[in-house]
Amino acid sequence: MDIKKRANEIFEELVEIRRELHMYPELSEKEYETVNRICKYLDKWGIEYKRGIADTGVVAIIRGQEGGRTVAARADIDALPIIELNDIPFKSRNKGIMHACGHDIHTAIHLGVARLFKEMEDKFKGNVKIFFQPAEETVGGAKRMIEEGCLKDPDVDYILSLHVMPNLEVGNIEIKYGKLNAATNEFNIKIKGKSSHAAYPEESVDAIVVAGYIITALQTLVSRNISPLNSVVLTLGQIRGGTKNNVITGEVNMSGTLRTLDEETREFAKRRLVEIVENTAKAYGASASVEFEEGYPALINDDEVVDVLKEAAEEVLGLDKVHFKEFPSMGADDFSYFLQRVKGAYYNLGCGNKEKAWTQPLHSSSFMADEEAIKIGLILQTQTLLKLLEK
Ligand code: NI
Repeated sequence: MDIKKRANEIFEELVEIRRELHMYPELSEKEYETVNRICKYLDKWGIEYKRGIADTGVVAIIRGQEGGRTVAARADIDALPIIELNDIPFKSRNKGIMHACGHDIHTAIHLGVARLFKEMEDKFKGNVKIFFQPAEETVGGAKRMIEEGCLKDPDVDYILSLHVMPNLEVGNIEIKYGKLNAATNEFNIKIKGKSSHAAYPEESVDAIVVAGYIITALQTLVSRNISPLNSVVLTLGQIRGGTKNNVITGEVNMSGTLRTLDEETREFAKRRLVEIVENTAKAYGASASVEFEEGYPALINDDEVVDVLKEAAEEVLGLDKVHFKEFPSMGADDFSYFLQRVKGAYYNLGCGNKEKAWTQPLHSSSFMADEEAIKIGLILQTQTLLKLLEK
C-alpha cells in the first residue's frame, strides 16, 4: 500500500472526526461519548476491539498474517476543565471543557492508523494494537489499562506514542533518546506548632515562622544535594495558615510537586525532603510531617525504537524536519507506565502554524492545532509500526 497516498485519501474524514471530538470533549474518566464515537468508527471499518478496559478505555486489534510480532500505539482521549476561547465552527459544545491538549488530534490519528492496518491486514505479519486511553490528565489511565491486561494476549513487543506540540511548526517532529519526561510526586507538608495571642510570642511555637525556615531550607535540596548535571524541580505551589492578624498560628499546610528524571534520584529526593522538613521543624520546637502522592514515573525512551522512528521520520518528513530535543522536559506523561514494561518511544509532533498565529501553548484556552499534523502523525505512526513489525 502507498501509505502517503491512502493517508491523503482518508485525511478529510479524519479531520471531520477530529472536529466532532473537539466539539464534544469529556473530562478524564468520563470519556463515555468519546468512546462511543471511537467504537462507531471502528465498527464502520470492521475493526475488532474491546471496550471497558479501565472503564473508558478501548483496545483495538488488527491481526495480520500468522507469526510475527505485536506492536502497539497509544492515543490519550481525555480533555481538560478549560473554557474554550477560540471562535471556530467546531468550538467546544460541552461547557467548561476543552480539548486544549490536542488529545482529539491524537485520537483521530490513531483511528486512522487502525484503519490503514485493517486495510493492509493480509500484507503484514503479526498484530497491531491501538490503545485509546482515558485519564492521561489526572489519575493515569495507562496504569489501569496495563493492570487490566492491555499489554497481554498477544503480548506487546514495541509501543509508540506522540504528543502534538504547538511551538513546533507543523511538518516537524522532535525526538530524543533516553530520558524525556519527569517523574512526579505531589506532596503535602503539615507543620504543627502552638497557637497563642500575637502579643505573647513566648507562649507560642509560630508555625508561620517555622514554615519560612522550611521553605528556605528546601531550596538547598536541589542546589546542594543534587548534581548540577542531574535535573530536579521542587516547587511549593500552595501555602495555607493563620486566621487573624493578632493570632500566632499553630498550624501551616504547604503543598507542592517534586520532579525527577530517574527512580534513584526520585527516592533520594523524597527522603531528603522528609529529612529537611522534619528536622527544620524540630529545630524550632515544632513538628512536621510529609505525605506523598505517587505521580507518573519518568518517561524513558528505548534507543533501538528511537533509531527505527528516526529512520521512518527521515523517510517521511526529510532529514531537515527531524529534530533532536536537547534536554528532557520536567513535564510528565503517563505513557511512561507503558515504557516501564515494553520497549518504545514517544515524540513531539509539530502542530504549530506561525503564519496563522497558532502557537498558543498546550492547556491554553486558545490552543489551536494545524490539522495537517493529523496526516503527518498518521503516516509516521503507520510507517514506524510497520518497521517495528519487520524488525
Ligand atoms: Ni496531553
